[in-house]
Amino acid sequence: MPRSSDPKAAEAARREPSKRIAPLRALKPFLVPYRRQLLLAGIALLLAAAATLVLPMSVRGVIDHGFSQEDAGRIGQYFLALMGIAGFMGLASAARFYFVTWIGERVVADVRERVFGHVLSLSPSFFEVTRTGEVLSRLTADTILIQTVVGSSASFALRSLVMVIGSFTMMLVTSPKLTALTFVGVPLVLAPIIIFGRKVRKLSRESQDRIADTSSLAGETINAVQTVQAFTHEEADRTRFHHAVEGAFGTAISRTRMRAITTALGIFLSGAIVAGVLWAGAIDVLADRMTGGELGQFILYAILLASSVGALSEVWGDVQRAAGATERLMEILSLQPDIRAPLNPKPVGVPARGALAFDDVTFHYPSRPEDAALVDFSLRLEPGEAIALVGPSGAGKSTVFQLMFRFFDPQKGRVLFDGVDISEFDPRAYRKQISLVSQDPVIFAGTVMDNIRYGRPEATEEDIRRAADAAAAGEFIQRLPDGYNAMLGERGLTLSAGQRQRIAIARAILRDAPVLLLDEATSSLDAENERLVQKGLANLMAGRTTIVIAHRLATIQRLKRIVVVEHGRIVGEGSHAELVARGGLYARLASLQFSEARALAG
Ligand SMILES: Nc1ncnc2c1ncn2[C@@H]1O[C@H](COP(=O)(O)OP(=O)(O)O)[C@@H](O)[C@H]1O
Ligand SMILES: [Mg+2]
Repeated sequence: MPRSSDPKAAEAARREPSKRIAPLRALKPFLVPYRRQLLLAGIALLLAAAATLVLPMSVRGVIDHGFSQEDAGRIGQYFLALMGIAGFMGLASAARFYFVTWIGERVVADVRERVFGHVLSLSPSFFEVTRTGEVLSRLTADTILIQTVVGSSASFALRSLVMVIGSFTMMLVTSPKLTALTFVGVPLVLAPIIIFGRKVRKLSRESQDRIADTSSLAGETINAVQTVQAFTHEEADRTRFHHAVEGAFGTAISRTRMRAITTALGIFLSGAIVAGVLWAGAIDVLADRMTGGELGQFILYAILLASSVGALSEVWGDVQRAAGATERLMEILSLQPDIRAPLNPKPVGVPARGALAFDDVTFHYPSRPEDAALVDFSLRLEPGEAIALVGPSGAGKSTVFQLMFRFFDPQKGRVLFDGVDISEFDPRAYRKQISLVSQDPVIFAGTVMDNIRYGRPEATEEDIRRAADAAAAGEFIQRLPDGYNAMLGERGLTLSAGQRQRIAIARAILRDAPVLLLDEATSSLDAENERLVQKGLANLMAGRTTIVIAHRLATIQRLKRIVVVEHGRIVGEGSHAELVARGGLYARLASLQFSEARALAG
């Protein structure tokens, strides 16, 4: 893995490698569609390797014939042949590079799309147990690792393997005796390098840990610099840092010493072997048992072999990391969403009426199996009816919405839409019947127009303007610098909470679904904005089955039916006046809020 300042590449380098490389096999289905490119890459690879292996033979020709007086005329031919081989090698290598990189980029693009699409299909329970950061790492860092392997390391490894086999064979062909001699020497060189190499690796890891210690110590202290100074703790922290830095230095020097010894041994031992083999070869040349060219050819093959072995060991780490990455990506792809369409989904009525019912529902979130979020919860709404859900925070109000969307299935009881258990619908067709305006609506990067169109992608500009006007948003949008084309989101304008809320209402109006869910849609607004949003909401609610979760009771007083929820159970139901008259939780909440309001007003 080349070092790079690219943070994604740096992250990729830190990802856990796999001990086995078998997981890479899972990439096969992603490669199969590109058989043709694979074949071309393979041919180019073999041709380039073959040309490289021919090179030492032509060098032998140059040495044996090029320098002798009687053959002076032929020298040109040999050098021309050398140039020709070089040109051929260049072309074949370029073709290999192009096809292999093409395959790498293509496979990674395919893997990314598959994983992203699959992640979008997974149920909320997946996102409860997997952090978003981890999912993103899999999409970016892990796919980069696969790209390194498919798009370069694999071909590099394959080429090196071909070269190892080819140059070893050619060494044997050139001189079995010198080959045998070389391979007696190799263990002598490798043994100390392997032993010391292990120590170096262990010390490098330690050294990295020490450096991490110093940075975390520095970070902690500097972040709390005011506390440090307030407690006049500078001296103690300096000492602590001194010890950490000196520790890091000590480890770095031990590692460097070990490395220096390894380098010295490596260079000396390999040089000694080369010298020894050359010596034996020179004796043979002098005794006319081989030509100078043959000796040159042998040495070149030996160099090719050594560098190919080196290259193989270098890419091994990449291959292991990519195997780890593949394992993690395939793990995501093998997950099945908990919420799936039944084999023969019931069609949703066109147009749907919008009757809702919770029928004795008990539900626990999968991450908290011991606490029920809803208990024996039964609720029935006629088409077009509007009710409010009221209750302390944590009572289970938002959970009602989660189940309405069928993000989870209840453990007991049923949720019905137009009299049909919602698990009998295709979730995507069913969810089209619901619009949601939540407390903190999401604004995506894009124009105002795009953000409203999110409610119904095929809507015309005219539809969008009408929806915005009905949501009491048209006026403020027109006053934005670019009106409906103003950019919102990360690199664009920031809207106030009330404006975001009205965009969300416009979105919901555009969606034009028979069921409307409002989750504390006005709780974070000031009075003026709330008045505007209420106007938009009134337009939106007309003719739709609506459930309003409200924190501020003033906003729902006029609704005929208010349902009071506590600890996942319905504890009261009626109009504002009835519930106040009856006393209990609602009456307490109401007297608290309205006396507060009076106190503020007075
Ligand atoms: N995703 C979740 N995973 C686990 N528990 C949850 C989750 N969401 C809510 N809960 C729990 O379920 C109960 C009801 O929560 P919620 O429906 O959000 O209440 P409300 O909207 O009335 O404030 C609370 O005890 C809450 O802690
Ligand atoms: Mg809530």
